[in-house]
Amino acid sequence: MDITKRPRRLRSDGVRPLVSESSLSPADLIAPVFVDATTEERVPIESMPGHERVPVEGIAERVEEVRETGVEAVMLFGIPEEKDERGTRAWADEGVIQRALRRITDETDAYVITDLCFCEYTDHGHCGILEEEAKEDPRQTVDNDATLELIERTAISQAEAGADMIAPSGMMDGMVGVMRDALDRENLTEVPIMSYAVKYESAFYGPFRDAADGAPAFGDRRHYQMDPGNRREAIREAKLDVEQGADVLMVKPALPYLDVVRDVRENTDLPVATYNVSGEYAMLHAAADRGWLDLEETARESLLSMKRAGADLILTYFAESVAEQLSAGRRM
Ligand code: PBG
Repeated sequence: MDITKRPRRLRSDGVRPLVSESSLSPADLIAPVFVDATTEERVPIESMPGHERVPVEGIAERVEEVRETGVEAVMLFGIPEEKDERGTRAWADEGVIQRALRRITDETDAYVITDLCFCEYTDHGHCGILEEEAKEDPRQTVDNDATLELIERTAISQAEAGADMIAPSGMMDGMVGVMRDALDRENLTEVPIMSYAVKYESAFYGPFRDAADGAPAFGDRRHYQMDPGNRREAIREAKLDVEQGADVLMVKPALPYLDVVRDVRENTDLPVATYNVSGEYAMLHAAADRGWLDLEETARESLLSMKRAGADLILTYFAESVAEQLSAGRRM
């Protein structure tokens, strides 16, 4: 062999950290939290070990638990007291998210991002208002433009209740533009939008749909979420959201779509987020339970690979646990 070429020289303990190309920090992480208007006690989410739905009264305490690990940002999901055809509790002044936001902003210094979608709020579980035909023909689904009006209202309502950033996740065309206009019109110009710009129709959302009670009652989300095989389309989606005024672009899920994270990174100057979704979390837990994988190491390696792919921020159910591992000095 050519003995001048020895990459292993840079792998010894002392030099390895000096030449490491990617790193993880609690500052990169956003912890999803679930607030549930239907419960007075914390309810464990079975398919997402360590996660719970917490009552409105207990949400500030839950957020403080996250902050104690060094993670400062949370993504808030709500389970409303009741659901209806239009998802009206999503923009209600006394809605679950609005009440939770007031408590969190009164009682903590956390940075709160709200998920904006209707699937938790509609009785049919779709991410917007249904087209008339949808009731007879499940191949029809959500009425894009009618849903945009509700997105506007909900964005204003969340921002007024104290959301620091809003993350629309319904994959409606034009959602970022209408939100930006509405927020600006109401003088909420300082509230950034993190768009779920590139969201695939993925089977990895299964455990979340149990957690947030948002599985579609019929059909699926193919009419609005992306085809898992499409790569060029991701760039098109990302660019549309840039034009409409998005501040951060998200790719979701994360692990099965790291190529797309890289593509989006290379095609925009905006910060790129990726969502390490419920199924990615559940699968590591399930394997670790059987003794087949080391949970902590595979969690850190997963998140590091998202950074390597080009993500600046990571939404992950591992946020608290990985932040604790990092402060205990554990690295790759
Ligand atoms: C709402 C929403 C979903 C997730 C985040 N926001 C569910 C879905 O689109 O079905 C999934 C998150 C996860 O799986 O962790 N639209």
